[in-house]
Parts: sequence; C-alpha cells; structure tokens
Amino acid sequence: MDRIYPTRQWYKELVVYQIWPRSFCDGNADGIGDIKGVISKIDYIKQLGANAIWFSPLYKSPQKDYGYDISDYRDIAPEYGTLEEFKQLLALAHEKGLKIIMDLVVNHTSDQHQWFLESRKSKDNPYHDYYFWRAGKKGGKKPPNNWLSTFPGPAWQYDEHLNEYYLHLFAVEQPDLNMDNPRVREEVKNIMRFWLDMGVDGFREDVITFISKKEGLPNGFPLPAARGIEQYVNGPHIHEYLGEFRKEVLDRYTCMTVGEAPMMTPKVALRYIEEGENQQLNMMFHFQHMEADCLFISWIRRPFNLRKLKKVYDNWQTKLYGKAWNALYLENHDQPRIISRYGDECYRAESGKLLATMYLCQSGTPFIYQGQEIGMTNIRLPELDMYVDISTINTYKLFRKLHFKHETIMKIAKEASRDNARTPMQWSAGKNAGFTQADKAWFHINPNYTEVNVEAQLEDPDSLLNYYRKLLALRKENPVFVYGDFKMHYRRSKKLFVYERNFEGEKLLVICVFSDEPVRFRTTGGLKLAGAELLLSNYTVDNPGEDDFLTKPYETRVYLFR
Ligand code: NOJ
Repeated sequence: MDRIYPTRQWYKELVVYQIWPRSFCDGNADGIGDIKGVISKIDYIKQLGANAIWFSPLYKSPQKDYGYDISDYRDIAPEYGTLEEFKQLLALAHEKGLKIIMDLVVNHTSDQHQWFLESRKSKDNPYHDYYFWRAGKKGGKKPPNNWLSTFPGPAWQYDEHLNEYYLHLFAVEQPDLNMDNPRVREEVKNIMRFWLDMGVDGFREDVITFISKKEGLPNGFPLPAARGIEQYVNGPHIHEYLGEFRKEVLDRYTCMTVGEAPMMTPKVALRYIEEGENQQLNMMFHFQHMEADCLFISWIRRPFNLRKLKKVYDNWQTKLYGKAWNALYLENHDQPRIISRYGDECYRAESGKLLATMYLCQSGTPFIYQGQEIGMTNIRLPELDMYVDISTINTYKLFRKLHFKHETIMKIAKEASRDNARTPMQWSAGKNAGFTQADKAWFHINPNYTEVNVEAQLEDPDSLLNYYRKLLALRKENPVFVYGDFKMHYRRSKKLFVYERNFEGEKLLVICVFSDEPVRFRTTGGLKLAGAELLLSNYTVDNPGEDDFLTKPYETRVYLFR
C-alpha cells in the first residue's frame, strides 16, 4: 500500500518567530519594547529564516499579566505604538513575505475592559451575563464553588456592590468571559473579523480549551492549585463553539490557528485538529514535552529525563502523522529558557544546537521564541522583589502557605519563573544589550549579554544563531524535513535521541546526544552512513561515513539519504 503523506498546506511550511513585545526591541527610547523596534528588526527575523511572526498581545492592557489582560481588543497599547504603526508593520511584513499571527485572548478580558465595567454596574446590565457572576454560598460568605485560579489563589472575587462573586481562572484582574452567552461569541467573531479584514494571517488562541465551563460550575477535585480544572478543560461545548468560529469566520479567510492546550494528549487533540469536516484548529500547543524536568508545572522540579521526552515526541509525531499537524516549540514567554533546562549552560552553544536540531527536524510547524536562537539562558533573579510576573508572585505566596522556606522557594523560582524568558533581547554587547537607548530597560537584563548577543553571533560562522539559519534553510530546501514521517531508533537509550524521517524516497537520520560524556553510537537497521550526505553537525566530523563512533559532548548530526 502506498504511504499516506500529509497534505501540503501553507501553514505547514511556516517557521514562526514569537515576539513578546515588551522585551524585543525599544524603538522610542522609553525602556519598553515596541512596534517601531520590531520594524527595525524585520530583516533580522527574515534572515533567520522565519516566514511568520506571532505577537504576544499588543493590545491595550493594564499589563497586570503583560498583555494577556486586554482592555480593548481593537487597539494597540500606547507603550507599544498605534494602530497606524501596526498597519505599517503588517504591510512591511507582508512585503517581506512574513505572515502575521495575533494572540487571541478570549477566555478572559481585563477587569478594565468596557464590558466588565458595565457588567459590574448592576445585575440587569446587558453586559452582566458576559461574565460568570454568581451569588456566594452560606448566605454569600463563601465563594460559589471550590475552584482555585491557575495563578495560585482563589478563582472567585467578591464584589460588594453587587453582592456577587465573579470567576477568574487567572489573575483577579482577568475575569472569565461567559462563552455560553451567544452575544459573547458574536463579539469574539467580530474581533477575529476585525483583524483578519485588516490582513493578519491567523491567531494563536490563548488557553482556548478552557472556554466552555461545565454547566452549574460544579466543585472540583481538592487540588492545591487550579482546582476545578477538570470542570472546564475541553468542556461540554468546546467543539461546538470552535466549530462555529471556524465556519462563520475562519473558513472565509486564508488564515491559520494554533490553540494553546494545557493537559492535552494526542487522542484528545485529534478531536480538535484532525483534518477534515470537523477540524476546528490547525494545530495545538500541548505541554507534554515541557514536562521532562518537572511534574505538570515547572515549579515541581525533577531531573531531566530524556526517555520521558522521547516518549512524548514519539507519541505526538506518530499519532498525528497523516491526520493532523504538530506545532513544535521549546520556548515561549511562559517557559524558562531551554538550554538552562534540557541543555547545559557549560556547553551553551553545543547543547543549543543539539536542542535546535532535536525539535526542528521533526514533523510540524516550528515556533522559535525571541532569544532562543542566540541561546539566551535563565537570569535566575535572586530576590523576590526583582520578579514582576504575577504567576511567580502568586506561586511564591502559595508555597509559603504550604510552609516552604523562603530560601527554598527562591531556589525554585530561579529555575521555574516565567520571568526567565522575559528579560530584554540581547542585541549587542553595548549599553543595555542594545535593547534600548533609554538609561534603563524596563526589566533586568541578563548579565551574560556581553557574551551572548546577536551582533557577536552574526559575525561568527559557528554561532548558534548561524546554526539556526542553516537548519531553517535546509528545512526550506528539503520537503522531507517538513512532510516526512517519524521513526525512533534507540528507543530505550537514556542519552541518545535518534530518529529518521522518510518522504518520497528520501530519508533523514537525526542523531542527538544528550550527554557531556562520550557515548558509543552505531547505526541500526543496516543504515550505512557512507551512502549519506552529512547535512549538518555541531562539530567538525572527520569521517562522516563511519557507522560506529564515540560521540562528543551534546553532539548532533543530520544525514540525508537519497
Ligand atoms: C497563557 C499565556 O501564554 C500566559 O502568558 C497567560 O498568563 C495565560 N494564558 C492567561 O492568559
């Protein structure tokens, strides 16, 4: 039987560069990243080999959760620029062949959004039912149910004026929208149309699998955080609502979607992303591969376990192949830096190249987070008052409540905090790492910028940055990188991650060594490296045709068989 290959689609050939605007590049010398700054770096992104940009929220926001609390879905935050500037950026990006993907955050709004301000005026206000307002239990003294926020703390906030509580699965300032209200769904569709009509090319949909809550909002299992999560993850009407968005809006445009999906498995994901009539999203950001050094969240730390990582990839790569499409990422604004987690800061460039190869050679659309391509690492801020991320601060409070010592929590925060990913981009060894001309950047800059920066790496042919460029160029030239299948070798190895990809008679062999000590590598399945072309490696290889060799620290090689 002929092999069923994935259908060719433009969104499968994207390489997406993620920008977290506040820390990318400051164009007006106020210490905060902005659209002007992005415009000045468009060529840099293009030359990296990306053909799309995903912007973490640029919208008007009180910035309690750095943009994920939106107060106006149709305008740009003044510190980032104006709508006019955004349109210029969009036109420029399109001119350069870059697609623009916006963040769509509709599980919740800011508490300063007009809808919420109206909703809290009175129980009969037409916007009241845009949110989850409920009477308390026990004569109003206790919240309506036992749910806890995913940023630790209660999920309900009492409002004295209304004598009711409102639901917020994230910060107090992020009230949840009631998607069961058809008027709210109309609002969401109109927001999508607004941006798509302007010309944007798609959406990354924030915690989109949370938008349908179980009717009656029943109590959840007694967990110390995110209690109640089973009552709203992949909720009862989720497929109906996403189907509605697709049919009434998305299908009428050439656009793509990627949904953020905590606790997702391939089996459940297929209900959202399997290609065909009922497909609701093009791809999903699951979290399972981000749990190879922790238990569910980065705050519950465990030693890195390569076998756990390989199992996850094997599962997603093989179960989706030919049916649905993977989204590949190792970093984003919520995840500590990957070299500090799965790599080795003593072998920063080598392990950075290894990690890049490991995920960019898989099947799926790759996402690269700003600074990942130069190997930015965790900043490890030592004092609590140096952190600004609301989830870090709330998690600290929760751990204190659970009787953890201050020192112990700080030790965890240094590795686990989202602030590790949010330090300003390191453009040069100059003032403020070239991020801003202001006296001071809005946030701490990693002191390693004198060594780890774009300028230095552009000049060095062996740099991590130039390795990313080579790898992305190879992906673009060889369809086997994009459309090939996935077969794991050395399944049981704790140090070797080796896989092959096959497509229309071509084969890639990807060798990744997760060890600083020599490991014996031998080809399996009768593969002869002498017959293959060594496309890429992170060391000079004297004898690329050798089928049996001892590896170097974090060595990686990619071979092509034709
Ligand atoms: C996921 C986003 O990536 C994160 O940054 C945000 O805090 C939450 N969703 C809430 O919007």
